[in-house]
Amino acid sequence: MKIIIVKDQVEGGKEAFKLVKETLDSGNLKTFGLATGSTPISLYEELVASDLDFTSVNSVNLDEYIGLSADNDQSYHYFMKEHLFDQKPFKHNNLPNGLAQNLAEECARYDEVIANNPIDIQILGIGENAHIGFNEPGASFEGTTGIVDLTESTIKANSRNFEKIEDVPTRAISMGIKSIMSSRQIILLAYGEKKAQAIYNTVKGPISEEVPASILQNHEDAILIIDEAAASLIK
Ligand code: F6R
Repeated sequence: MKIIIVKDQVEGGKEAFKLVKETLDSGNLKTFGLATGSTPISLYEELVASDLDFTSVNSVNLDEYIGLSADNDQSYHYFMKEHLFDQKPFKHNNLPNGLAQNLAEECARYDEVIANNPIDIQILGIGENAHIGFNEPGASFEGTTGIVDLTESTIKANSRNFEKIEDVPTRAISMGIKSIMSSRQIILLAYGEKKAQAIYNTVKGPISEEVPASILQNHEDAILIIDEAAASLIK
């Protein structure tokens, strides 16, 4: 794992932007794996402000809540449109369909999307419990797209975006860890003290399914871009 320590989230966005630009400029960004949440927003702001052209790039998002339609303003479809896709058109945007009638079929369809679009760069945030995507502690390292029950800690962390905690969906469809690990390059972003323990366990701890992000120690090209606060326990 390569670790880049930055001053803050703004600088982190700029560092990640440089990596994305390099791969795009060299013609090697065919599929761009994206995340939602507050962490990647500064990167998306950089992308939106740039003249980079993504019209020949496909995107593949990590996850979507089950039960929310694409036009629900809490859905990850909506988030991506608002923060990136409305301003930066891609060739095609792929996200799991949280309203699919048959969720098992939807997971299989999404695995096929990923198989047909090998991910060149995957952007990741990290949960306070070190989840990646919505792969919570205990998720199999061999997992592909699946339906996950969100943990109490994730529901609580995500409730800041909802009016009340009861409104937070309790299930999601998430790309699995095996699919995430198949990405050619992984850029994990983390900012703030709340992420410090997760970063410590990811970087210094044993590789364990109890710490989903710890598997990144085995990835050949995983880059962590983290601020001083998130890095405070590994120094
Ligand atoms: C989002 C995702 C999650 C988040 C993580 C951190 O698509 O897959 O793993 O990256 O929960 O969320 P924030 O950035 O809001 O702290």
